[in-house]
Amino acid sequence: MQIEKNTCLQLYNTFGINAIAENFVIVEKIDDIINIYDLMKQFQEWHILGGGSNILITKNLMGITIYNQLKGINIIDETDTTVLIKAAAGEKWNDLVQFCLQNNLAGIENLSLIPGSVGAAPIQNIGAYGVELKDVLVSVDAYFFDEHNSITLTNKECNFGYRDSIFKHKLKNRIMITSITIRLNKTPKLVIGYGTLQQQLEKMGIVHPTIQQVAEAVNIIRTSKLPNPAIIGNAGSFFKNPTISKFRLHVLSEQYADIPGFALDDMNFKISAAWLIEQAGWKGKREGNVGCNPLQSLVLVNYGGATGKEVYTFSEKIVQSVKQKFGIELEREVNIW
Ligand code: EPU
Repeated sequence: MQIEKNTCLQLYNTFGINAIAENFVIVEKIDDIINIYDLMKQFQEWHILGGGSNILITKNLMGITIYNQLKGINIIDETDTTVLIKAAAGEKWNDLVQFCLQNNLAGIENLSLIPGSVGAAPIQNIGAYGVELKDVLVSVDAYFFDEHNSITLTNKECNFGYRDSIFKHKLKNRIMITSITIRLNKTPKLVIGYGTLQQQLEKMGIVHPTIQQVAEAVNIIRTSKLPNPAIIGNAGSFFKNPTISKFRLHVLSEQYADIPGFALDDMNFKISAAWLIEQAGWKGKREGNVGCNPLQSLVLVNYGGATGKEVYTFSEKIVQSVKQKFGIELEREVNIW
């Protein structure tokens, strides 16, 4: 393993932020991780980089930055109805989706075209169009730095929540995810009830879709609303959709009749952060090189040359303005480095 000095990170984060990693190392083999442990002790500060699609880098990265490039997607077991797949953390998430579509394995077709790596997927429990990673995930393999050994966490042990997991809390900075194992179905159990997905399939004239057609519909929706990070820097949804009580929603809907709320249980509703941001007047707004996407206001964009600090400052203005208007504090989904 070679340590590169002063690596420019612009191509390693989908926001396209031009920051520097003081020391940068690429992990390609499981055996490399043992050496990583020594490097981490030596440098004290470290960052583990996957696809770079859910981070905002606000400063140069001191210490050591570890780029996870562990590769491999393999079928490890199967029954009459299901297949177990193990995918290494450094694979691109969408390559795993493609592998499953090509092998007619159902369960992650709704998660098509999500940028980022396989290893980052459990950290935020990626989700889209009614499906979350936790619905198919069996286990996560990781290297546990404290104890210097490999561990396996079951789905339950990952404490998955909405864009949340144990990896954002108790295990933050203490492990490096090496692979995930997912269970997929040979016969699809489609999830096509999400409003925009249903409408897209109708538009395509498809009543009984295949998993490939579901993925195609998802791709059409995503590419029509979400900017391509290869062209305009962004990290997908910048904020989480907030949860509020039924009572609070009732009060708000007296003033804002069209506020979109989705029941989570009898007492709580998830409301659309995109809607709140739009109502607060931010949709399509631009300040310098940073902007709020005109097609999906939950996505902040770097039009070119923005610093991480500028994006953060812009996001803070949105947080304050939504708070002032609705009394709701938006929480960032993107990890701030
Ligand atoms: N809406 C607006 N204005 C907008 C966009 C949306 O008012 O500019 C309202 C509409 O009422 C719409 C509703 O928000 O019906 C939901 O919009 P959308 O389907 O685009 O979903 P979202 O809640 O904005 C979430 C995820 C996305 C995921 C989509 C589809 C979060 C933080 N974001 O967005 O995930 O693709 O649902 O499932 O949960 C990501 O996490 O990076 C991401 C892109």
